[in-house]
Amino acid sequence: MDRTSRSPGDSWDLASSVGATATMVAGQRVLAHREGLIDDPFAEPLVRAVGVDFVNRILDGEVAFEDVDPSFTVRLAAESMAVRTRFFDQLFLDAAAAGVRQAVILAAGLDARSYRLPWPQGTVVYEVDQPEVIAFKTRTLAGLGAAPRVTHRVVAVDLREDWPKALRDNGFDPSQPTAWIAEGLLIYLPSDAQDKLFDAITTLSAPGSRLATERVHDVATFVGGRPREITDKMRELGSTIDMEQLVFTGERTNVVDHLGGLGWTVTEIDARAAHADNGFEFPDNELTASFGDLSYVSAVLG
Ligand SMILES: C[S@@+](CC[C@H](N)C(=O)[O-])C[C@H]1O[C@@H](n2cnc3c(N)ncnc32)[C@H](O)[C@@H]1O
Repeated sequence: MDRTSRSPGDSWDLASSVGATATMVAGQRVLAHREGLIDDPFAEPLVRAVGVDFVNRILDGEVAFEDVDPSFTVRLAAESMAVRTRFFDQLFLDAAAAGVRQAVILAAGLDARSYRLPWPQGTVVYEVDQPEVIAFKTRTLAGLGAAPRVTHRVVAVDLREDWPKALRDNGFDPSQPTAWIAEGLLIYLPSDAQDKLFDAITTLSAPGSRLATERVHDVATFVGGRPREITDKMRELGSTIDMEQLVFTGERTNVVDHLGGLGWTVTEIDARAAHADNGFEFPDNELTASFGDLSYVSAVLG
């Protein structure tokens, strides 16, 4: 049963509701950057600019992961985010090597790939997210003197609405192959919006397009039991995020099957194998059993 407090048309900034989760994962990217596992110098200034106290206190070492759960450490948080960041970076690097020159970052949040990846000349990157999220990031990075390393177009629209029209209105060309990522997004979409998202992506994708996303095997693992205890502990320590209220736990289509049915050639790798591929040991404990039950999905349209 969904316990979500979400409603059709709800909106947020980077400090509230679903937006705060973007700040939280960017905070994890700061840790991965500090550990030398990824190169994202923009994560920390962005997170600091948002100013979510709990996240800042993690970065300042005032809240220890071990206070939340004894089995959790900065290093583990950094490694799991490095696995994720490298996976989505690779989709764009592979697409670029294959000659794809159009990219879309769906639900971009505080993603700084437009500012940090080595995009080939002539590439256009579209970033899609809610208006306040996209405006804040673009304004903050401009204020820091950071310039995108690519032709960069922001599309402020809700992904439950007619985002394909907004994308086209901003110059997107469906006759060109496109590299798409939807990172950390699906659990925040109702199941019908997830289905429509991939149907629309497919309609907009010329042959040779590529796509990466994740599959959370059961969104209900975010609800009740140990995850509930973790959320409560984090809230005691000052967090304002309550995952139970933000995700949609009802039945949803398996994205791998869905994409396969739409003609994509799909590859799936589970988090454990993805950790191993990066030389990291997948932590075997109750916490990761709850939160780590996901796989990374990439696809190519023939
Ligand atoms: C966990 S964050 C991930 C952000 C980014 N992809 C990353 O991995 O750092 C979830 C993001 O999804 C965006 N999002 C969720 N539902 C959305 C919707 N219906 N329309 C637009 N953006 C949405 C949020 O604004 C937020 O930036």
